[in-house]
Amino acid sequence: MITVRAHPSLALIKYWGKSDTDKNYAATSSLAINLKELYTETRVSFAEGEDSVWVDEMIMPKTRYAPFFESLRRILDVNAYFLVKSYSNFPKSAGLASSSSGFAALAYGAAKLVNNETPLSLISEIARLGSASAARAVFEGFTLLKKNTPHAEELFDALYWPELRVIIAIVKAEPKDTSSRLAMELSKNTSPCYASWLEGSDKIFGEALLACKNRDLDELGPLVRKSYLMMFSTMFTSSPPLLYWEPESLGLIKACEKLRAKGHSIWETMDAGPQVKMICLSHESEELMRHLEEEFPHLDFLLSEVGGGPVII
Ligand code: PMV
Repeated sequence: MITVRAHPSLALIKYWGKSDTDKNYAATSSLAINLKELYTETRVSFAEGEDSVWVDEMIMPKTRYAPFFESLRRILDVNAYFLVKSYSNFPKSAGLASSSSGFAALAYGAAKLVNNETPLSLISEIARLGSASAARAVFEGFTLLKKNTPHAEELFDALYWPELRVIIAIVKAEPKDTSSRLAMELSKNTSPCYASWLEGSDKIFGEALLACKNRDLDELGPLVRKSYLMMFSTMFTSSPPLLYWEPESLGLIKACEKLRAKGHSIWETMDAGPQVKMICLSHESEELMRHLEEEFPHLDFLLSEVGGGPVII
């Protein structure tokens, strides 16, 4: 039996859409950081006769995980079944990337159980079959998942840019109505903005790599903002439209804009859900968080550093 703790992967430059749906290859290259304060803990052991997955004491439908386990067995060349028990210290399926930490912990635990020497690149490939963002969460710190590729890679370790912080606003903790898997297919098949998203995303990905290398938030921030807004342009123009935002999401976006006008470096991003994650630097992160807590007293806020990769605990 192995218990693994993994952190969710927050994309600064987003993956949205698949270039190959069966293989779960990403259509855009993404650049992400792991969130240290958030984690999923997953216990994996061998089982008799069938696989079962429990999340927070609830058994998951077999169909949800069956293709994942089939691929895992094929890639690891093993005949075993698995019993998996998992819980997270943050809301799930709400746009906080719980599938990234969940599948990263599961792939890491199962692979290490079968063969302790399994390389991270292979674990990342397995994790990608559950959720493409999970391919990134297998590595530490700053990570990349290039479009059309089977596994992610580490760009920089978790301590490369130690001042970087993320303020996370929990706008609504309930699970979303439309999974990101379905939503990105809808964007691909129906949004007139999808082609320009693919093209624009390539350009800002290259620029963002350089900004990260330079540890320059004023260079990186506008690219982070552009990435999530271009991604949402495909969602808003899908048929039917995908409306993950809540009024407070827009309130927070405008609050960041006002703070920037006052000279603060705070850059928001969002995923397939209403939560807003705001990137800033440690010297002003607590002041910025206090300000946001006062302006949005009914919301919960978390402050996170950049996190490491999965660990066996
Ligand atoms: O990995 P998935 O299928 O949960 O999709 C993740 C999509 C986004 O979170 C919106 C973007 C990303 O790159 O993480």
